[in-house]
Amino acid sequence: MKIGILGAGHIGKALARLLAEAGHEVGISNSRGPDTLRDLTAQLGHGVKAFNSEDAARFGELVIETIPFGKYANLPAVQMEGKIVIDTANYYPQRDGQIDLGGLSESAFIAHHLKGARVVKAFNTIASAHLEAQGDVNKPLDERRAIFIAGDDQAAKDVVTDLIEQIGFAAVDTGSLEDSKVQQPGTPIYGPDLTATQAREALKQKS
Ligand SMILES: NC(=O)c1ccc[n+]([C@@H]2O[C@H](COP(=O)([O-])OP(=O)(O)OC[C@H]3O[C@@H](n4cnc5c(N)ncnc54)[C@H](OP(=O)(O)O)[C@@H]3O)[C@@H](O)[C@H]2O)c1
Repeated sequence: MKIGILGAGHIGKALARLLAEAGHEVGISNSRGPDTLRDLTAQLGHGVKAFNSEDAARFGELVIETIPFGKYANLPAVQMEGKIVIDTANYYPQRDGQIDLGGLSESAFIAHHLKGARVVKAFNTIASAHLEAQGDVNKPLDERRAIFIAGDDQAAKDVVTDLIEQIGFAAVDTGSLEDSKVQQPGTPIYGPDLTATQAREALKQKS
């Protein structure tokens, strides 16, 4: 699958490597333009391409937005219309500034901005170093590290679940975009290293 990644920081780089190694065509972007990504794409290999953010979004059949939450207004919304968009973002007011989410979850707020995109929250509860290191395709799904996902479009969540499994993790569904408040910073499942079995148990205890 062609995957466009917006953001070439900790999470963007980790996902670019993992997804390219899994056989996907990956295009990556940052805020400063493709010329500043040449060293990274050379290092990543596997034909990973460098783009500006509009072209990365246009390139991807699926798009991953992994830029700081406070920069959400710079996302190329038009180029993401109709596409599955994985949102990895977490809102930290001290880093991102005061933003009025209007009572929405962080990803519902992003989805409101990205009209027509099929937003799935994923990869927000795992540190980038763990994302780089903990995937293991040889483990049974229940014993793999859980990646929590949420979204309003089941078919989009199925696609994201499949990608998560391809890179050695297991998807655990927390529900709709509004339900994704349970996987935001400060919640019990934000951060801990849980297997899929443990993650489902933790969600049951919450409800
Ligand atoms: N770090 C983690 O362990 C972790 C874990 C889970 C979730 N997250 C969340 O994931 C998001 C990304 O985190 P991160 O740590 O990977 O961030 P980061 O290391 O600070 O990198 C952010 C990247 O976004 C790029 N960017 C900014 N505006 C852009 C735009 N308009 N188009 C394309 N790229 C743009 C930056 O490019 P320039 O350098 O050119 O400005 C940079 O490459 C955040 O919301 C964070 O809370 C982080």
